[in-house]
Amino acid sequence: MYEAGRGKLRPADSITHRKRLSYAAFLKERVKYALDCKPERSPSLRQSADFQTLCRDGIVMIPGFLAPEQVEAYVRQIKADTPIFDGQVEVSDIGSCILNDADQVGDFQAFFESPLIQAMARAYVSADVETPRKQIMLKLKPGEEAYSDFYHIDHWEHKLRAFLLLQDVSADNAPLVYLKGSHRLKPWRLRKEFEIFHHFRPAPKDVRYATPHTTEESKWSGMCLAPEVYNIGRAHGYEEYIATGTAGSLLLFDAKGLHHSTALKQGTRLLLAMHLDRRSKGYFKRVMDYEGQG
Ligand SMILES: [Fe+2]
Repeated sequence: MYEAGRGKLRPADSITHRKRLSYAAFLKERVKYALDCKPERSPSLRQSADFQTLCRDGIVMIPGFLAPEQVEAYVRQIKADTPIFDGQVEVSDIGSCILNDADQVGDFQAFFESPLIQAMARAYVSADVETPRKQIMLKLKPGEEAYSDFYHIDHWEHKLRAFLLLQDVSADNAPLVYLKGSHRLKPWRLRKEFEIFHHFRPAPKDVRYATPHTTEESKWSGMCLAPEVYNIGRAHGYEEYIATGTAGSLLLFDAKGLHHSTALKQGTRLLLAMHLDRRSKGYFKRVMDYEGQG
């Protein structure tokens, strides 16, 4: 999902921008972006089963990324040094309490500076991949719904996401749900991507939207209701994957694929999360000087 916040609100630019919008313009930008990406793939990574799974399915869960003692140390640090468990951090529109700049809060280098994640991201996204968001994310309230609970895509540009599970995530602990294979280029994707291209506009600082929007309708661009997801899934043979896992597991997923969050049923769900993308070189940055996506 997107977080507005780092860019400037420039309505005049947005109006000019919208006048230029067309499907042809979108396709041109999409091709341009794809040509700008220069994946860097070492021979060992090409043979990595996890990397192959990520490329094939758009998502991979890697158990045992962090040892249990280290997971416990991370949780202790978060409880001692942040207010996130105290209910003082506002619940965002994606249903989680989020603390940004998590690398400034504690020593979480094994995740945020992981050579494995960086190598996977350089290979999947591009050698110039960036890590603009380093977050602690907590779901605290059972039953709390979010509008990211609808199936959606985040972008047409790369947006690889990494979650480090700091607690066991069962079906009751708000697992991410993903349609395997839906990250690949198909006609249905282009329609959804164009919605995002067409409706996008920077939002005021510190306001979060699933997709920064110009109208009430725009808020839902990139999203699918159940019948559409059913038809897309059936037409292309996509399989639904519920990303459950044990504490210490690493989840990597391509947010261009169809995915949605789920409400917490019981307990809590604590993650470290990171975005891996090229937003400073992306379309919105170039056209609107806007980087605030996610
Ligand atoms: Fe999303």
